[in-house]
Amino acid sequence: MKKISDILLELNSFVPTDLAEVENFRIKLLGKKGIIKEFSELLKTLPQEEKKEFGQSLNLLREATNEKLNYFKSLLDVQSDHLEQIIDFTKPSIENEPGSRHPISLVKNQIVEIFSRIGFTVSEGPEIEDDWHNFSALNFPPEHPARDMQDTFFIEKNPDFSLRTHTSSVQVRMMENSKPPIRTISPGRVFRNEAVSARAHCIFHQIEGLYIDKNVSFADLKQVLLYFAKEFFGESTQIRLRPSYFPFTEPSFEMDVYWGLKTEVDHRITKGTGWLEILGCGMVDPEVLKNCNIDPSVYSGFAFGMGIERTTMLRYQIGDLRMFFENDVRFLKQFSASTM
Ligand code: PHE
Repeated sequence: MKKISDILLELNSFVPTDLAEVENFRIKLLGKKGIIKEFSELLKTLPQEEKKEFGQSLNLLREATNEKLNYFKSLLDVQSDHLEQIIDFTKPSIENEPGSRHPISLVKNQIVEIFSRIGFTVSEGPEIEDDWHNFSALNFPPEHPARDMQDTFFIEKNPDFSLRTHTSSVQVRMMENSKPPIRTISPGRVFRNEAVSARAHCIFHQIEGLYIDKNVSFADLKQVLLYFAKEFFGESTQIRLRPSYFPFTEPSFEMDVYWGLKTEVDHRITKGTGWLEILGCGMVDPEVLKNCNIDPSVYSGFAFGMGIERTTMLRYQIGDLRMFFENDVRFLKQFSASTM
């Protein structure tokens, strides 16, 4: 049997958190078969000279127990009354909003998915690139005016490195590190030193496609792009390719989709032509293949690249590119996978 001093110690460290705990402790100490009852029985059997001291300790324990139980009972009583007053348990609970994907991610995932259906894998590369991968391997000779096409953020301490200006740098890495056939798509962030406006930003996202194999022709490029446009914008979508220039493709094109001229907005965004440019593309220049140790007499290929913001703006009719970067939940809330 425990000693009275042990029980006093236990009582001292007793800190209940609810009324049920108080009641259980009361039964344990003061109940009909409780510890104090046991001590009272014991008291009766003690020799006369021990009875006084034991009896006094037992009284002390009884008083301390009552005092402690009463204290916690009233404290917890008040708390639970109070809780019921301030919390209306019949109210519906606060809605738990699980969040949604950013529209840029939604569109990126959809583009990746469309190309993965025809065998394109996803590849990624670093956002801080060296001159070789971002420019030189892609046929931008030093001092060549083509470098001015893309205003670059250079790394101050080592200007051989810059923030990549396009995801074409991943194209170079893929060709250097793998053997044809290569069929890959590279989504990622790119950076250009441009003034921020409704139509331009210093950070945006691109997705680059690359296909290298034997006998890849311009007809393959055109069919792949037509397939993409129909999957993404709808079965009846028309495309056209206009001659253009990129240092790393020859010939080079810009692809437009037919947007239509039904509304005033259509006139404005297509500058009255009905056509909208959505990507740059072309046959990979043989020099670029050589730079990446691929024999241009055996292999050929095509590449294309598009801005994800621009594609998303068209998709959802968003008028200002800056909205993608402001993280305003009122804007972001409108997108979810089910609205695709
Ligand atoms: N890299 C080009 C750009 O940023 C796009 C492009 C990619 C063009 C691949 C042709 C082929 O504008």
